[in-house]
Amino acid sequence: MTDRNPDRPDLPDLSSKNPDWWRQAVVYQIYPRSFADADGDGLGDLRGITRRLNHLAALGVDALWLSPFYPSELADGGYDVSDHRDVDPRLGTLEDFDALAAEAHRLGLKVIVDLVPNHSSHTHVWFQEALAAGPGSPARDRYVFRDGRGAQGELPPTDWQSVFGGSAWKRVPDGQWYLHLFAPEQPDLNWSNEEVRADFRTTLRFWSDRGVDGFRVDVAHALAKDLTEPLRDLGDLSAAAEQVLDDMPPGSHPYYDRDEVHEIYRDWRKVFDTYAPPRMAVAEAWVPNARRVLYARPDELGQAFNFEYLQAGWDADELRQVITDALTTARTAGASATWVLSNHDVVRHASRLLLPPGTDENAWLLSGGHAPAIDPAKGLRRARAATLLMLALPGSSYVYQGEELGLPEVADLPFEVLQDPIWEQTGHVRKGRDGCRVPLPWTTTGPSYGFGAGGAWLPQPESFAAYAVEAQDGVEGSTLELYRTALKLRRKLLEGESLTWAADSPAGVLDFARHDGWRCVANLSGTALPLPPGEVVLSSAPLDDGRIGPDTTVWLAR
Ligand code: NOJ
Repeated sequence: MTDRNPDRPDLPDLSSKNPDWWRQAVVYQIYPRSFADADGDGLGDLRGITRRLNHLAALGVDALWLSPFYPSELADGGYDVSDHRDVDPRLGTLEDFDALAAEAHRLGLKVIVDLVPNHSSHTHVWFQEALAAGPGSPARDRYVFRDGRGAQGELPPTDWQSVFGGSAWKRVPDGQWYLHLFAPEQPDLNWSNEEVRADFRTTLRFWSDRGVDGFRVDVAHALAKDLTEPLRDLGDLSAAAEQVLDDMPPGSHPYYDRDEVHEIYRDWRKVFDTYAPPRMAVAEAWVPNARRVLYARPDELGQAFNFEYLQAGWDADELRQVITDALTTARTAGASATWVLSNHDVVRHASRLLLPPGTDENAWLLSGGHAPAIDPAKGLRRARAATLLMLALPGSSYVYQGEELGLPEVADLPFEVLQDPIWEQTGHVRKGRDGCRVPLPWTTTGPSYGFGAGGAWLPQPESFAAYAVEAQDGVEGSTLELYRTALKLRRKLLEGESLTWAADSPAGVLDFARHDGWRCVANLSGTALPLPPGEVVLSSAPLDDGRIGPDTTVWLAR
């Protein structure tokens, strides 16, 4: 592995040897099936990613996170894993993975892979064994099988609901039921089972031995379940996770955010620390801030995604509060703060931030993005301001593929092309997450705008041509060049993990200093602001007659 800046000791040490390289890193999320397609079958693959890694190096990110590329029947976009230690043949081979990791490391990029420990695919050999072995067998104990309620066991064991809609239990031919907190094709594993724990330790070592630098842990808050009999119904609380957790005493939910889950991560930490540098990890845990940071303690995963930031509206007071809370709790726990604006599960921020407060995003998607209609140019302006604000914050930022191009949500995907299980499982009530997963445009022409030699597994709108890398590369003022410049400057400006808010910023303005006079001013108000003293090193939009216009963020240096 090479150090990115061997000759520049003045720059922050994000080298491969620094055990803390991840604390303020910028991580680029690749959704492999939508990034680049080398073999022209319409589905992105590992060789496609390797060929395009120079895009990430030129962007200036520190690491890439690969969403699942494991064998999967794609019941949930790859989060239904049939073998946690192999590559989906449609995406390549283990040798292709090794080549990808080697090229990433040559370019000075760390590699983070997704770990999906809460469930497997129903095609996983363990689940097939469980079905064949029958009730009470050791094979069934790797999952959560129970008898049903009712005279004939015809009712599900509890009222627990799947995150994707409907009951979280499915009945098998011999009459028992199994738990699936997500799609029926994703049976939940039983983390009280020692074989399950040992197998995931093997998986951690398998990828770490192949040179992986870290792990993103899927649904980290759901692994530990209270399976003491009788299982408890949730009643009115069987709805959305976050809502449930706000309404219950901490640690009392039967399957979310239980205290015992932390034993698992303390156990994993021992594995991570056998490597030099230790492997890093980041938890996907949709739980309130004060509880989420527990997953990020130094003897556990180190980081947890801060979804409160992603869920905040374009509102200065709300953002200031969320930022302050996140930094305070991260500091208390000895963790590194994280910031995310977009990922493969949410409406892209170039669209989302323009939706009026209180908009029902699903209704907006069902309307094809017409009700309310939003102006893409305004959305992009806001997204660029939001990005510069995020990249100025202390801690680590996670950037989702395509946001560096300013891609909006593809809200008008026709119903007949939808792939997200949410669409079918909710009986066509929720449209799902496909609109942020449309394959990337690399060139302004071609069958799939340079994504591959063939088509794309989700249709790209014609408007994608104008967002293509080719259309923005080297173009002054383009979103791609804004990201490149911001990431380059950020590396030089990083120091410490704190910020100081200006005492007297006007309403609608976020104004803070990092260190050595580096200052970030974000104008979320509707009126232009006088420029504070200092040299403008970067602005998300041209200055407005020497002032900071609405929806604009500037970075200033002394
Ligand atoms: C979170 C992932 O980000 C999402 O895409 C997936 O559907 C669920 N976990 C289930 O694995």
